[in-house]
Amino acid sequence: MKITVIGAGNVGATCANVMAQKELASELVLLDIKEGFAEGKALDIMQTASLLGFNTRVIGVTNDYSKTAGSDVVVVTSGIPRKPGMTREELIGTNAGIVKDVAANILKFSPNAIIVVISNPMDTMTYLTLKATGLPKNKVIGMGGILDSARFDTYLSLALGVPSSEVQGTVIGGHGDTTMIPLTRFATYNGIPASTLLSADELNKVVSDTMVGGATLTKLLGTSAWYAPGAAGAALVESIVRDEKKVFPCCVSLDGEYGQKDICIGVPVVIGKNGCEKIIDMKLNSDEQAAFNKSADAVRSMNGVLKELNIL
Ligand code: LAC
Repeated sequence: MKITVIGAGNVGATCANVMAQKELASELVLLDIKEGFAEGKALDIMQTASLLGFNTRVIGVTNDYSKTAGSDVVVVTSGIPRKPGMTREELIGTNAGIVKDVAANILKFSPNAIIVVISNPMDTMTYLTLKATGLPKNKVIGMGGILDSARFDTYLSLALGVPSSEVQGTVIGGHGDTTMIPLTRFATYNGIPASTLLSADELNKVVSDTMVGGATLTKLLGTSAWYAPGAAGAALVESIVRDEKKVFPCCVSLDGEYGQKDICIGVPVVIGKNGCEKIIDMKLNSDEQAAFNKSADAVRSMNGVLKELNIL
């Protein structure tokens, strides 16, 4: 297996670090546009290999896509992160051009790769990557729902006072502070509905904390998160390269599922060696479906900006 991570910033480098530690590939290429940056990060990760006991070879390159050739999976983290007070959507003007360029280079050197998109605004960047590459829809997957669900799990576990490994939360919809939908009806503590263990107020607080999970720490740090986004990206890649068939909420292209078409948005999917192998079209109730439709409207209007910017 060969994996490439485009962008050696906080998220890209953390994702590469987790994937190296898990030995998801024999060769892992880290690419950045900043001279020497990816090389430095790659060396730092490589120098942990004997300490942590992994044998993945991590190679850093400055914008030389020929070194990424023949990758099985490519993770895209390029672009700028948000600053405190910014929405992910405000990044579109800068990041859309960058991601379009990256997508063309991936296609040129790794035409068979499965592409995992992390760059923000993630739903629109996934749509852009799908359209710009013309790849089949199983091969372009946005990582947002896994991260948002991990944050949902965190706040559920804190509210319930139980280990986060024992709770199961699913977040669907767009990867935005106001567009994501933590599905409280399906949140469980090992199969026991969380709604029977928490009061309505407690559950509402879990939901609102989840929705601003990224924004809260961005305000504290001055820039956006990396440990959880990096780990979430690595979990997605792991299910691909090990053909685990895990069910994760991911941003994928819908063709009638959930009543939506011509959009990439978060829904539960089965992730295996072919990328998105199945979309699970779960039955939403009318409130959940209304929230999903509203989220899709917001994502669709953001996708419309790609036309205004002459990107698509
Ligand atoms: C976040 C960014 C990476 O949610 O989208 O932290």
